Amino acid sequence: MITKSPEETRRVGRELATRLPTPSLVLLVGELGAGKTTFVQGMGAGLNVKENVTSPAFLLLKEYRGAKTLRHIDLYKINEISEVEKVGLTEDLPDDAIVVVEWGEKVDLNLILPTVVVQFEPEEDENARKLILFSLRLERKEVEELKDALRDY
Ligand SMILES: Nc1ncnc2c1ncn2[C@@H]1O[C@H](COP(=O)(O)OP(=O)(O)OP(=O)(O)O)[C@@H](O)[C@H]1O
Ligand SMILES: [Mg+2]
Repeated sequence: MITKSPEETRRVGRELATRLPTPSLVLLVGELGAGKTTFVQGMGAGLNVKENVTSPAFLLLKEYRGAKTLRHIDLYKINEISEVEKVGLTEDLPDDAIVVVEWGEKVDLNLILPTVVVQFEPEEDENARKLILFSLRLERKEVEELKDALRDY
């Protein structure tokens, strides 16, 4: 799908976060400035998180409480799988949590959670992005509902 503005990217994040089962995992893949944090802001809005969602680049992990728990992780600075494990992606994970990871390609995929991968690609228009979504281990009904919600993008 194509989003034509940061606001549209936030709306896609919002639709995803409200519909995903918990616990689940969202892996965001894309270069610097691709729109990953913008997408997570939309997820936070969809879950009625009151705080501003900002990049956890220095803290690596931030957790927000809303309609679901949103655990936001940024692996930009991490290069070894062994270091990723230390971040504790799913350590003490509440049952109602969505874990969303920037630089999600660095995650070791032997996690068994339902997972959505969102790949961000630049477009010629600097305010547009191509978003490619894949899902793993979601139920067919959940996938159909997501597709319905996102069909206009
Ligand atoms: N369609 C769009 N979707 C998302 N962001 C967009 C779009 N068009 C323009 N932008 C701009 O691109 C930038 C995206 O920044 P953002 O911090 O979300 O990227 P990021 O992928 O998290 O980067 P980083 O790798 O540094 O964490 C913002 O300045 C945003 O306003
Ligand atoms: Mg970011």
